[in-house]
Amino acid sequence: MNKIKLGSKPMIYPMPVTLVGADVAGKPNFMTIAFIGVVNMNPAMVAMGANPSHFTTRGIVENRTFSINLPSKKMLEVTDYVGLFSGKTHDKSQLFTIFRGETKTAPMIEECPVNLECRLVEKLSLGGTDDLFIGEIVQTYCAEEFMTNGKPDVEKMGSFVFTMDDNRYFSLGKPIGKAWSDGKNFKSK
Ligand SMILES: Cc1cc2nc3c(=O)[nH]c(=O)nc-3n(C[C@H](O)[C@H](O)[C@H](O)COP(=O)(O)O)c2cc1C
Repeated sequence: MNKIKLGSKPMIYPMPVTLVGADVAGKPNFMTIAFIGVVNMNPAMVAMGANPSHFTTRGIVENRTFSINLPSKKMLEVTDYVGLFSGKTHDKSQLFTIFRGETKTAPMIEECPVNLECRLVEKLSLGGTDDLFIGEIVQTYCAEEFMTNGKPDVEKMGSFVFTMDDNRYFSLGKPIGKAWSDGKNFKSK
């Protein structure tokens, strides 16, 4: 294989697409975030890289709460819109139906199949473009219609993913295997 060097790129492909919400000056605001992932199982924690100049990050720091909402592909256009325009110039508070949980200050999106309600644990400056926000998930919500046997079902959720250099969104395909199981059939050469 002829490997081409691409430079230092944040290329964990594909990337998730999430809508991260916070109250800013008393109103819900959302930003699209792809630099995000699970970093601890118990207590459940996530980390995201977000630019401190974003309107939403201001609200996360103010309230020390935020939400992570997983959009379905039906919501692709509004998800991209949220990532194109800042709440500083565009009022995004009316884009979605909002519900709230126990923190009260983490606005969550009714239309999204899954919502994670988070408390800010830590914000670290990395000396670059983005700050690292670590959140503890205090509650997880899933609309019943997107579940199978009591568990969120990505096929029903209609989740989609993203690649950054070429700015493309992709839908997911069919399940292809069973985790912690298919490896038992592996035979080393
Ligand atoms: C697909 C996509 C992914 C994005 N991922 C990130 C990200 O991981 N971190 C970040 O700081 N901004 C990211 N952005 C940019 C913000 O969502 C965008 O600047 C947004 O308008 C900020 O909104 P706000 O100022 O209202 O908070 C992304 C945008 C798009 C379209």
